[in-house]
Amino acid sequence: MTLVATAIRAGDSVLLARRSAPGDDPGDRPRPQLAKFHAPEVVFGPGSLSEAAHAALRLGARRPFLATDPGLLAAGWPDELLGHLHEAGLTPHVWYDVTPNPKDHEIEAGYEQYVAAGCDVVLGIGGGSVMDAAKGIALLSSNGGRILDYEGIDKIVFPIPPMVMIPSTSGTGADVSQFCIVTDTKRRNKITIMGRALVPDVSVIDPRLLTTMPDDLNAATGLDALTHAIEAYVSLAHNPLTDTHALQAVSLVVGNLAHTMEEPDDAAARQCMAHAALEAGLAFTNAILGATHAMSHQVGGLLDLPHGVVNGVLLPHVIRFNGEAEPERFRAIAQAMDLGLHPDTPGADAAELVAERVRKLADDVGVPRGLAELGVSEADVPRLAELTLQDACLTTNPRPASVADIETMLRAAL
Ligand SMILES: NC(=O)c1ccc[n+]([C@@H]2O[C@H](COP(=O)([O-])OP(=O)(O)OC[C@H]3O[C@@H](n4cnc5c(N)ncnc54)[C@H](O)[C@@H]3O)[C@@H](O)[C@H]2O)c1
Ligand SMILES: [Fe+2]
Repeated sequence: MTLVATAIRAGDSVLLARRSAPGDDPGDRPRPQLAKFHAPEVVFGPGSLSEAAHAALRLGARRPFLATDPGLLAAGWPDELLGHLHEAGLTPHVWYDVTPNPKDHEIEAGYEQYVAAGCDVVLGIGGGSVMDAAKGIALLSSNGGRILDYEGIDKIVFPIPPMVMIPSTSGTGADVSQFCIVTDTKRRNKITIMGRALVPDVSVIDPRLLTTMPDDLNAATGLDALTHAIEAYVSLAHNPLTDTHALQAVSLVVGNLAHTMEEPDDAAARQCMAHAALEAGLAFTNAILGATHAMSHQVGGLLDLPHGVVNGVLLPHVIRFNGEAEPERFRAIAQAMDLGLHPDTPGADAAELVAERVRKLADDVGVPRGLAELGVSEADVPRLAELTLQDACLTTNPRPASVADIETMLRAAL
């Protein structure tokens, strides 16, 4: 079985891969194919946080494990949730010993607390780091072993406890995804754990939580959502069920992210960004990702950098690389970005316009122009490229990439 087929098989999410072909734009009738689409129950809207307690109760909670982190505690959202959990008659155990880009040893320590406290349902309130740590703890609680043993696709054998996720950033989609990303502290990179068992049972999306994000986090996570949407749309595993979510997310991010930086209190724009992250999450958890994430996991793991910032820097370079070989699908993305594309514009030109628009958005929201500014040096490039080749996300990139291709993209992004 090829690597792509293996990735596609992951969690039975998509049964058949298709390569995009010339003329394969959304106006064309799609080729017959078999596709599956997974998604948690979603509760969405301002004030929905209180629903998390009802969801936990419904899932059988008595002593829920509430994962969060110090930044969220300072923002006050876990306290509000604890009030709802207590009102529902539950006795939660709170755990917050996790840092951004969650580390293998933090998750294993969290698992020991889960066991010692006799917990049942797992709740995560935070960004992707908290939600991934919560997923890691849930999977260890019923499968045992070490978290790094689960790297790869469908390694989880036994059912894991019910999970309720409450995202506090508008980016990762971890609240709906079948992914769990963990930092391997020995190898200093990030591993991908993937499988349908990791799709949470309920995602509670309350856009109010986004209002306490600092600007740089808002910028980074918004660009993460855009990267999910674009990578999912051009992925080898995309299908008509994922395409609509991906394009909707592109349009919502381009239309709202910069505005949330200018007017942070505009509730409607915040809600649009929460919606964008959800749509992008639904797209990529089913269609998987591509070379941007495969590289970003290595860069982020090496230097403990904000995931969305690294994606924002890398994405235009990957768009240009993919646009050279598979340009047609960038036409629909350019349209979703409202770039005023002429019907006769060649796909390659559309890809270039999309790359430029992504870079402009990154500039508008204050993301550095190159990896060097983030601390990456020329000497890091060969090792980062070697590790990228082993990342599961590369398998669905629409254009095959050799180690030399990856090195070229990383150098261009320096
Ligand atoms: N599982 C997936 O599907 C998936 C997808 C993409 C990214 N990720 C992972 O998610 C992680 C990044 O997550 P992230 O970008 O959401 O940020 P994060 O969870 O790493 O949080 C960064 C910091 O922001 C703070 N913070 C978060 N929300 C806040 C809020 N509303 N108010 C105030 N402070 C807040 C946190 O306390 C933390 O200190 C990376 O490890 C990345 O690899 C996972
Ligand atoms: Fe991401």
